Amino acid sequence: MITNTELEYKGDLYPSKIVSYTQDVDSVYFYTDNNVILKLTVLRDSLIRFRFTTKGYFSNDFSYAIDKSHSHGYNHLEISEETTYYKITTTKIVCKIQKADLRASILDLKENIILEDELGFHWEECYEFGGNIVKMSKSSRDGECFYGLGDKATQLNLKGKRVENFATDQYAFQKEQEPLYKAVPFYIGLHHKQAYGIFFDNTFQSFFDFCHERRNVTSFWAHGGEMNYYFFYGPSMQDVVTSYTDLTGKPELPPLWALGYHQCKWSYYPESNVKEVAAKFRELQIPCDAIYLDIDYMEGFRCFTWNKEYFPDPKRMVSELAEDGFKTIVIIDPGIKIDKDYWVYKEALAKDYFCKRADGPYMKGKVWPGECNFPDFTNPEVREWWAGLFKELISEIGVKGVWNDMNEPAVMEVPNKTFPNDVRHDYDGNPCSHRKAHNIYGTQMARATYHGVKRFAYPKRPFIITRSAYSGAQRYTSSWTGDNVASWEHLWIANIQVQRMSISGMGFTGSDIGGFAEQPTGELYARWIQLGVFHPFCRTHSSGDHGNQEPWAFDEEVIDITRKFVSLRYQLLPYLYTMFWQYIEEGTPMLKPLVYFDQEDIQTHYRNDEFIFGNQILVCPILEPNAQGRRMYVPKGQWYNYWNNTLVKGGKEMWVDTKFDEIPVFVKAGAIIPKYPVQQYVGEIEIEELTLDVYYKEGKEKSVVYEDGQDGYDYKKGRFSLLSFQMTGKEKELSIQLHKDGKFNTNYSKFKINFIGLPFEVQKVRIDNEDVEFDTNSFNIEQSLLISKEFSVLHIIG
Ligand code: GLC
Repeated sequence: MITNTELEYKGDLYPSKIVSYTQDVDSVYFYTDNNVILKLTVLRDSLIRFRFTTKGYFSNDFSYAIDKSHSHGYNHLEISEETTYYKITTTKIVCKIQKADLRASILDLKENIILEDELGFHWEECYEFGGNIVKMSKSSRDGECFYGLGDKATQLNLKGKRVENFATDQYAFQKEQEPLYKAVPFYIGLHHKQAYGIFFDNTFQSFFDFCHERRNVTSFWAHGGEMNYYFFYGPSMQDVVTSYTDLTGKPELPPLWALGYHQCKWSYYPESNVKEVAAKFRELQIPCDAIYLDIDYMEGFRCFTWNKEYFPDPKRMVSELAEDGFKTIVIIDPGIKIDKDYWVYKEALAKDYFCKRADGPYMKGKVWPGECNFPDFTNPEVREWWAGLFKELISEIGVKGVWNDMNEPAVMEVPNKTFPNDVRHDYDGNPCSHRKAHNIYGTQMARATYHGVKRFAYPKRPFIITRSAYSGAQRYTSSWTGDNVASWEHLWIANIQVQRMSISGMGFTGSDIGGFAEQPTGELYARWIQLGVFHPFCRTHSSGDHGNQEPWAFDEEVIDITRKFVSLRYQLLPYLYTMFWQYIEEGTPMLKPLVYFDQEDIQTHYRNDEFIFGNQILVCPILEPNAQGRRMYVPKGQWYNYWNNTLVKGGKEMWVDTKFDEIPVFVKAGAIIPKYPVQQYVGEIEIEELTLDVYYKEGKEKSVVYEDGQDGYDYKKGRFSLLSFQMTGKEKELSIQLHKDGKFNTNYSKFKINFIGLPFEVQKVRIDNEDVEFDTNSFNIEQSLLISKEFSVLHIIG
């Protein structure tokens, strides 16, 4: 049994001296004396792939993570030979490979070292399973910081930490607990104001050590597979994250309703209970778009069946819920009950689609339904079959989204909580054991589910959510952070996890609001919903065995706070949708930790709590009971307190007063924030005007608003509307230039423009260079204008 090996081990082997090299278009191969080959591929001027073999030849190159449509192509690639090293130069970086031992260093064009091998690539032969434990160590620089790695429940900056990637069902996990549900072997390093990234694309159990074992060393290693990693040069974190996201892929737009509020519990049943919960949302006027059915809707937890006692007519129920604006989302787990009378089991058995043990029997393990077999989602034929299973749920019953759970894969009552190592997988024609397929299993399940739901939901968009994921899963699915706990500490964890997922390419993520295990107090629930509405995915969920966690399980004050914040989310839907669009277009994270927002400011490097929602709204949750406010860091620039419109100058830590029905929220000066009226669900009302909250600043600032049909695929054919606003503030004048793109005509015809922070009394309003009549008095009271959306330049003159 291999344990968590120490980094330096006396059995470690190292590359010896380079004896030759060859170049093949974008790749350079370096051959050593002891059969090691380094294949260095220049994908872009700032993106290099390093792939090593110790066998003298490479095995088939296959990755689930890499998006086939990623951009590649460089401007310049030059290789030259120096006395002790080879030098590869692109338009962005220089990479030196030492002749003596294959160690690499990467420099910017001014010869500043960005990242350099310490021991570099080395390995330990693995007698038990064959192959190698592959290892890499890099020198770490003074003051270097590390971010990324998916869902880790620890401080945002990973300096000093060791983390493990092995997807694990970690019920009621704790702070610092390792490993968790997801495996995202990607990190961002930052030193001397320069950021770079490493993506170690290896699905075996892997580890990253950020100066934990040795002070100035960062290392990563995996229990099998290849040393195969990508290096991204910044110099900004934005460059690193967007090119990682380009490489591993972006999602399509979700239907707008999926950005609404979701309500979940284990479990709502029978039908009357589901209806009651839905009705109560409408009665209390707390917006809600989706309601979830957890495992009890099924017949004995058999996937793709219904318990007819609880749900005698699912199609009718789903359509009645839909009439009231609720989309029904159902859970589907990977375990298929061993039951000779169950159609899904029979089909999979007949087609031989279940995972097998090394010696032939099917992999058998206990989950909710009892003994189960598990489809091999790494087999394309199995994925195709699985996709087809959704026909009835989606096309006939009208379910709108599917929730994939237990796909680490989780197995109950066994010590390692998952499949044994010897289980076989197809791995898309690269047969392997579970050691290699474990971390990717959940993603392949979500991928198959996505294709099924998409096929049958067409021409509408699918919605999928998964618990387990590997890099690239964002192409198919959203995710949540698993079984957290109703505690203040977990609120802190959730805030960090969702930010971390966001800069790890997987932005459509949220936590179980209020906590899954145990019961939150009303205060904790309120603080959690206040944060949760600023997370890309926003759902309350609870294990249900400690009482209720709907907003009305708490007192009036908490109900009011929930209504206030969920309504705010619905007002901000066009803002949220725009940031989602920037994510799918550019790979821009929807939430930006402060360090991402301003990496030059070292004050941001160790901040955990504050983040930027989209581009222009600063949010900081309240993470303690009885708070009257909190200290927080406001990044450089000018910010308006959202609740009272006072202007603060950032670049410092400050105390911010808050009432119980507020958390610190600030809007960047110069921003134009689009808002819809509050709706109880997306599409409830016809939107007659788009509200634009204009936050005055002296100087210039750009804002954009993306809209489309809110569902369907017409947006891909140019039927979208992109409004680009450029605001320019002067001492006695404010102008807004509007540029429009796209072929979609929004239903509303007017903008209601609210001016915030105008430093002058308005004397004149000019639209497209013509003075317009307006009521000075009422303007000065309301500070707002209702104007046609068809304008190019608006001048407000003092
Ligand atoms: C797992 C999931 C949780 C779900 C429960 C029952 O614990 O993480 O969200 O409610 O299983 O399906």
